Amino acid sequence: MSGITAGSRRDERPPGDAALFFRRWLANPLQMGSVVPSSASLCRRIAGLVERAEDEIVLELGAGTGVVSRALLAAGVPPERLAVVEIVPEMAEHLRMALPGVQVIAGDAFDLPRALPARWHGKVGTAICGIPLVMLPLERQRAFVGAVEAVAPGRGFLLYTYCITSPLPYRRLGLSARRMAWTPANFPPASVWRYRPPQPQGGTSHGGGVPR
Ligand SMILES: C[S@@+](CC[C@H](N)C(=O)[O-])C[C@H]1O[C@@H](n2cnc3c(N)ncnc32)[C@H](O)[C@@H]1O
Repeated sequence: MSGITAGSRRDERPPGDAALFFRRWLANPLQMGSVVPSSASLCRRIAGLVERAEDEIVLELGAGTGVVSRALLAAGVPPERLAVVEIVPEMAEHLRMALPGVQVIAGDAFDLPRALPARWHGKVGTAICGIPLVMLPLERQRAFVGAVEAVAPGRGFLLYTYCITSPLPYRRLGLSARRMAWTPANFPPASVWRYRPPQPQGGTSHGGGVPR
């Protein structure tokens, strides 16, 4: 995804972000899922969808070079209420330097119950996923949904994607789905989906979206 500008706004990113991203894409394109980082327009849309009580954190999975993280901070998420998980050690190190005060976890999002400090289990207001789940087999997608549910019961997650329809077969995963945002100012144009597990009776319904 890119350093494309939305309207007349300049995309302020530390030099080196795009080069690191591209290098990692060359090393493992399936793990990266994109040649360039997300655009400022997409990052702002993601940040605008965050729900969080004062004592809750925002959990970002697959933080890359931190473009979404920076948009979350700019939107008012306090650094001590942001935790980011990144599987590539070099990128996690980059994030530690770029995001002072943010909890950077070098680890696998599929291993969240172990990777996320126990004090934050059940305290995740919004989980945001940048991992290219669409390319994974159903069983891996199921494992991801289970990992998020273990630390953020009932909350579901946001997922950004280049797919026009839902990138996840949400009914088979036992989720509801809704496309929350779309932006042409990204390379390629991108959507943000919200997925939720079934809500308890009397809870909020989050149905809708494109059937899969
Ligand atoms: C499409 S990039 C998104 C990066 C950044 N959030 C952005 O929007 O530009 C996907 C990121 O997920 C990371 N990733 C892939 N699989 C992961 C996993 N199992 N756990 C944690 N991070 C993962 C990749 O290393 C990469 O940085």
